[in-house]
Amino acid sequence: MELHEMVLEAAEVVRKIADIKPEVGIILGTGLGMLGDKIEAVARISYGDIPHFPTSTVDTHAGELILGRLAGKNVVALSGRFHRYEGYSLQQVTFPVRVAKALGVHTLIVSNAAGGMNPQFQAGDLMVITDHINLMGDNPLIGPNDDALGPRFPDMSEPYARTLIDLAEAAALKSGIRLQRGVYVAVTGPCLETRAEYRFLRFIGADAVGMSTVPEVIVAVHAGLRVLGFSAITDECLPDALEAANIEKIIAVANAAEPKLSALVLECLQGMDA
Ligand code: HPA
Repeated sequence: MELHEMVLEAAEVVRKIADIKPEVGIILGTGLGMLGDKIEAVARISYGDIPHFPTSTVDTHAGELILGRLAGKNVVALSGRFHRYEGYSLQQVTFPVRVAKALGVHTLIVSNAAGGMNPQFQAGDLMVITDHINLMGDNPLIGPNDDALGPRFPDMSEPYARTLIDLAEAAALKSGIRLQRGVYVAVTGPCLETRAEYRFLRFIGADAVGMSTVPEVIVAVHAGLRVLGFSAITDECLPDALEAANIEKIIAVANAAEPKLSALVLECLQGMDA
């Protein structure tokens, strides 16, 4: 079965459960988890009930697609994300983005937790992603191109819509939230980086590093979606002053950043034209 047929089958099942046309897709990554509770949900569909959706082999409850209203927009939220380091292929990781597009979204909002390499950044800061570097050594578009879904050689001159970056900066100003801007580099993980790797990643032009987002953004751009991306900076990754990574602390900082990031995304949604 071709990819676009799998996407249509999945979208069809979702549409039968709730026939609303979402305008904006939101991947509830780290830092946006609680936004799911703010949606006036019309339907919450477990990933396991949608054909071809990736599901967790260890936790059958992991992942649901939420359709509803948020900040005056029809949205589809993807709660539960899959990472390359868990063993999923990038085609699996990005399948939900394809389905969001098939349901009708024109815009995708993504978030992640990331290590800050720009020395101006502090743990707890938020960053709007202005561009990215794909260092995963993999690409979700490898393989035969399904022309029904997008072009063979998608343009990447502006993966993050400048108008949405401007919108995010205006929203941050209005809400009194400090917002950094910068380049996100994606690596596979699951190791954190060595000092030499952080030095290299900073040198090649990245401000923040993480293990997600870029595959989903590549597929979104391939599908013709506008993208708005945020990183919650969870730790300071300065090669010459590096402390041992503390995963509990990283998660705590990400959770502490959640109210700020959720408020910012709500403000952005409100300010978005239809
Ligand atoms: N590296 C990769 N991913 C991360 C980091 C990091 O330092 N911090 C949070 N996510």
